[in-house]
Amino acid sequence: MLPNSLFFLFFFLFLPLVACTSVPPPDLAPMSPDENATEFIRARCVLTRYPDLCFTSLSSYASAVRRSPVQLARLATNVTLTRLRALRAHVSALRRAGAGAAGREAAALRDCAEQLGDAADQVGRTAAELRGLEALVGMEVAWRVSNAQTWMSAALTNEDTCSDGFREMGGGGTSSIRTDVCRRVGRVIQYTSNALALVNSLVNGG
Ligand SMILES: *[C@@H]1O[C@H](CO)[C@@H](O)[C@H](O)[C@H]1NC(C)=O
Ligand SMILES: *[C@@H]1O[C@H](CO)[C@@H](O)[C@H](O)[C@H]1NC(C)=O
Repeated sequence: MLPNSLFFLFFFLFLPLVACTSVPPPDLAPMSPDENATEFIRARCVLTRYPDLCFTSLSSYASAVRRSPVQLARLATNVTLTRLRALRAHVSALRRAGAGAAGREAAALRDCAEQLGDAADQVGRTAAELRGLEALVGMEVAWRVSNAQTWMSAALTNEDTCSDGFREMGGGGTSSIRTDVCRRVGRVIQYTSNALALVNSLVNGG
């Protein structure tokens, strides 16, 4: 009786342990294509400056990306464009509401709305350069990616200029508008920086 109970004790206590700790090698555990695409995005996001933001903002579209670096760069560009347009609308609304009627703040809002509009235009051009890229080869790919890098870098510069405009506004005191706009622009800069890194990876062998 005793040996039997020991056997069952062993069986029930240790077998599950063994079963749980021996993870089958990846090729024996086929992943769903979606699951795999999610891992693909996580791995690519390591190439960016804000990998957590990269992953959380892009992973829900994993199946659309189909493990394609070009589609991922395009998706990141699309997401950046959406954020940028929303931010521009927000800044324009602040401006229309007569917020910051104090001269310098009004001027900073006006300049910022314009710079964000230019940035949105440039991110849109980036997206256009990436369209259909997978069907191309050789020099044409290099040319298109180079254009995409140029547009995306220009967008980043415009976003930085907007932030700088608010930072340099001075005035000492705490302006809630300045704080709000700087925080939101800072976030969009992170999205843009990530999208640029994913575009760069298309030619840097990333
Ligand atoms: C999953 O990823 C591996 C390694 O990246 C790849 O070789 C395999 O084809 C992928 N499988 C599916 C179902 O996507
Ligand atoms: C990006 O946006 C364009 C235009 O809305 C859309 O056609 C395309 O499918 C999107 N691509 C990705 C990868 O999100």
